[in-house]
Amino acid sequence: MSVRCVIGVQWGDEGKGKIVDLLAEESDVVVRYQGGGNAGHTVVVGREKFVLHLIPSGILHRRACVVGNGVVVDPEQLFAEMADLEAKGVKVRGHLFISDRANVVFPYHKAIDRAGEMKRGITKIGTTGRGIGPCYADKYARNGIRIVDLYDRELFEARLKVNVEEKNYLLAGLGAETLNYAKILREYTAFAKRLKPFVADTVTMVNDAIDHKKRVLFEAAQGALLDIDHGTYPYVTSSNSDATGISSGAGVPPGCVRDVIGVAKAYTTRVGSGPFPTELDNALGEKIRQIGSEFGSTTGRPRRTGWFDLVGCRHAIRTSGVSELAVTKLDVLDSFDTIRICTGYKVGKKVLKDFPADLRSLETAKPVYRDVRGWKTPTVGARKLVDLPAAARAYLRDLEHSLGCVVSMVSVGPERKQTVVTGGRI
Ligand code: GDP
Ligand code: IMO
Ligand code: MG
Repeated sequence: MSVRCVIGVQWGDEGKGKIVDLLAEESDVVVRYQGGGNAGHTVVVGREKFVLHLIPSGILHRRACVVGNGVVVDPEQLFAEMADLEAKGVKVRGHLFISDRANVVFPYHKAIDRAGEMKRGITKIGTTGRGIGPCYADKYARNGIRIVDLYDRELFEARLKVNVEEKNYLLAGLGAETLNYAKILREYTAFAKRLKPFVADTVTMVNDAIDHKKRVLFEAAQGALLDIDHGTYPYVTSSNSDATGISSGAGVPPGCVRDVIGVAKAYTTRVGSGPFPTELDNALGEKIRQIGSEFGSTTGRPRRTGWFDLVGCRHAIRTSGVSELAVTKLDVLDSFDTIRICTGYKVGKKVLKDFPADLRSLETAKPVYRDVRGWKTPTVGARKLVDLPAAARAYLRDLEHSLGCVVSMVSVGPERKQTVVTGGRI
């Protein structure tokens, strides 16, 4: 019970921010372990809306919030986020701890991200343009600059110089503007000074918290189907965004997490390119987009929408050992006569029940649906299971049975109070 995590089990934007905020109240430490400024986690508190990119969603409860070693940190974005929170009365200083081992995002990462996407043309991934892929690429190529390296002047200057020279070569080749080493050095020297009070040995900190039986909550960004190893490669993000990233991304032992809470929308969305077997590229999909306000929290792009996909979700549950599900945005389906659940992918003559690795199968898959009756009743006021219409409970029970996973929470609106804690099976 004391060490838990929240992950998305679809393609991101499942409502992780809201669920983490709720669980943060009963946590001591909240830890982000992967991704970076590509994330956009929304928490609505009364009239105030917070969109968090790098800072864990536990910050609104003034919990100790850790940005782990597996995260890629863009200082410019981090300071903007801190300023926004402080302006809204949320104290960040004293609550935020950034790993000395985390890799830093530099302007050349963002420039390469954008120029690379332009070059890809119709094969583009549809990234957020936040420099995530190029920063992780540098990390694994061992060209990265970590937070701790910013404070070793000689090393920092030498590594930055080599990097800027190399990246400028690449940028020029891509037809993009090149960058100025001295300007970046000046800028990042100032960032390093401002960052100093937040830098910590978070590996020791989080392990100490676990050893002392503190309540630790890991917060994933993106979703399991965007995971670099287990997602729809290459239309994925550049980190392990399912629960498998926790150990390496926070420096904790595998197996320390007792509860894996998978967050799933009552339907499915995806931003950017890549296969999406249950996509509704029609008026019905547009209706879901409008009712669900399905526009990206980070980039404002319209999200693609579709029906619930058991095949993708089951894959996510297995690779991450999801023990319970939080189903969000049930209210968005309130007005539909019929709701569809995808039970398999028809590829050629076969019906696949396991999520395939190859893009061709995913792209040509015809979803096999089971139709269920809609409830045609508003659910936004539901606070207890009995408040939900019988057909809505039947839908949730169907998901539970099909996925072999308890639905422990149901969200019926963006606000904290618009949540039903089921207390077990539906
Ligand atoms: P995250 O990236 O997983 O944290 O999700 P996002 O914040 O990007 O997207 C989820 C959006 O849905 C946000 O605008 C939330 O405020 C909103 N939201 C969360 N839960 C619910 C819900 O149950 N119903 C409705 N209507 N909106 C919700
Ligand atoms: P949260 O944490 C939804 C998508 C991008 C693109 C792909 C790669 O809010 O759920 P990247 O910039 O990471 O290289 O882009 O991943 N993507 C997300 N989609 N929610 C997110 O985060 C995402 N972060 C990245 O749209 O398709
Ligand atoms: Mg989001």
